[in-house]
Amino acid sequence: MLVLPIPAVGWSPDSRALRILDQRHLPAEEVVRDLCTLSELIDAIGTLAVRGAPAIGVAAAIGLAVALDAESGGDGARARGLLSGSAARLVATRPTAVNLTWAVQRMQRVAEWARDTELLPALRREAEAIRAQDVAMCDAIGQHGLAIVPDGARVLTHCNAGALATAGIGTALAPLYAAHARGRALTVYADETRPLRQGARLTAWELARAGINVSVLPDGAAASLLAQGLVDLVIVGADRITANGDVANKIGTYGVALAAQVHGVPFYVAAPWSTVDPATATGTDIVIEHRHSDELGELPAGVPAWNPAFDVTPRTLVRGYLTDRGLVEPPFLIDPDPSGALRP
Ligand code: MRU
Repeated sequence: MLVLPIPAVGWSPDSRALRILDQRHLPAEEVVRDLCTLSELIDAIGTLAVRGAPAIGVAAAIGLAVALDAESGGDGARARGLLSGSAARLVATRPTAVNLTWAVQRMQRVAEWARDTELLPALRREAEAIRAQDVAMCDAIGQHGLAIVPDGARVLTHCNAGALATAGIGTALAPLYAAHARGRALTVYADETRPLRQGARLTAWELARAGINVSVLPDGAAASLLAQGLVDLVIVGADRITANGDVANKIGTYGVALAAQVHGVPFYVAAPWSTVDPATATGTDIVIEHRHSDELGELPAGVPAWNPAFDVTPRTLVRGYLTDRGLVEPPFLIDPDPSGALRP
């Protein structure tokens, strides 16, 4: 039986609000919050109450639909007037995950053809389509991923690219849920993922909750784990995959990929097609979000922090891209054609 997704992001029962599981409180408490305004949405995304590239995209779409409805008093013409400013504020919240821009642009395109009287229902329909597609893409990633997760597999992952990071069963963790549902035994190692500890707090929480055997290790131990031959494959998520196949993901991913390469362990990136960005040529063109020094804990007075939230793993270190369209193996050129087709 496939594990049911944790409702990390979705609609409130009356569809008036964006409902999120506030991840700042995990694993201690399961706090559900309903957000109705743009300011609440921006705060939730900026503070990582809702996080993970696909979940941010879904939250932005639903959040925009409900906020424009509430803030316009249900008036389509007023909502249209608010849309572009709201969209600009939203996409600026977290610049690296392309899913945020992708989802907001989809909402804006819908608004271009909808009449004022139809605008708010059309935005709601598009937001629901984005959510439902995310669920389906996660399921497809899980099914394609069965080919790389055999019975007894020992898997290392970094950060959280699971159900908590999407509207469905996750990306990097989707093949693990699918394999577990088929009765395959798994050993999962979750990097702690400093500084916000998404691996320790979130990945370990959701895998343990699903009955999957998971251990947490400090980030600095990953290379030793790989060196000792205790890992068969690495699977991570992505915040953006550029046209040449470079991958932005949580800070520390690059180091794991380097260590995996040295020790001959295959390194896979799992992501829905909404994370592929054909408009950005290479990883050096990706804007990397830098976060506040507070996240590093207490520092000596006057000592600044360098706190990038993401790094870029060059495509040469990636064994394969596990997408909803299948497993893409080398070479990794992604056709900048608008159809998004892959070509060798
Ligand atoms: O800063 P976060 O917690 O939003 O970073 C999340 C990641 O880096 C994930 O690996 C990525 O978004 C993929 S989630 C399916």
